[in-house]
Amino acid sequence: MNRKTLCALLAPAALVACGGAAPSPAPAPTPGAATDEPGPGRGGRAYDSWTGELGLAAPAALRRPDGVDVTDTGHAFRLKNFYGWDLRGAAGIYGPRYQAKAYVLGRDWLAGAEPVDAVLAILRDGDHELPAFGAVLPEDALREIAQFIVDVRDRALAHPDDIFTLVEGSPGNYALRPGADPARGAAYFADTCADCHGDDGTAMLFDDGAYSLGTHSRQKAYEDWFKILNGHPGSAMARQVSGTGAEMGQTILDVLAALCDRGRFPAGAATGGDVPDGDPRCGAYLR
Ligand code: HEC
Repeated sequence: MNRKTLCALLAPAALVACGGAAPSPAPAPTPGAATDEPGPGRGGRAYDSWTGELGLAAPAALRRPDGVDVTDTGHAFRLKNFYGWDLRGAAGIYGPRYQAKAYVLGRDWLAGAEPVDAVLAILRDGDHELPAFGAVLPEDALREIAQFIVDVRDRALAHPDDIFTLVEGSPGNYALRPGADPARGAAYFADTCADCHGDDGTAMLFDDGAYSLGTHSRQKAYEDWFKILNGHPGSAMARQVSGTGAEMGQTILDVLAALCDRGRFPAGAATGGDVPDGDPRCGAYLR
């Protein structure tokens, strides 16, 4: 084989040796950079943190329809604090039987049946517990949040019941559901997440260096399912799954099960520690 034929067969990275131009490296992702496009997932990201997603400041107080002012008691007016990462309010993971957050509100969005307009009206005008978010959020943002809530409830998006069950008196108060394919999840991670998070999920640490992606997912999958479904507010991470609600749920569960492998997705430089053998959150997926 002559040199010209050989060079024609080589992968682009080897072309430099053949006198070709070096391929330009892919641009590095910019962690934390906001995307210009609203895109899918924005309603969920605004539910997570509307200040972070929309670049707005939280007020000192917001008023309920009965005239009572609700002040920030550690909830930062995040709807995820009022209703949890599972949208179930006091019946869910933030409720008194589980993580018992002081600021959780009673409404279980997943047990309701309101159309989008009615959900929007509750968010805009408030109820006997919730202050009126119409004072700080424009109608189109409120509609996106309402649509997100209805889509999770009606399973047009992944539903928390696809991902985990609640467990009283157990670490984190949840366990991943059976039925995942961790090998499929690992392949999905390599294709979809590794560019930003690194092949082993240690390229970015969270909560001031406390967690790698692996150690976070093994301890807080009830949060991470939501991030994979919607993205992270105000960052380059948008929705990471597509298809029907059930397909999204399966993919999210597969990825979370893959992240239960402590060897493949280690702590790296994270300071917060990892789960011990037998920890119930990953269940049979823990490696
Ligand atoms: C375009 C880059 C990008 C892609 C692709 C991406 N992420 Fe992210 N991800 C980020 C950024 C940026 C953050 C926010 C980090 C921060 O500021 O705390 C983040 C945050 C997260 C968080 C939240 C952690 C926390 O403590 O709040 C999880 C969980 C997560 N990503 C998982 C994934 C998974 C799983 C995938 C693939 C299915 C994925 N990400 C794909 C960039 C990305």
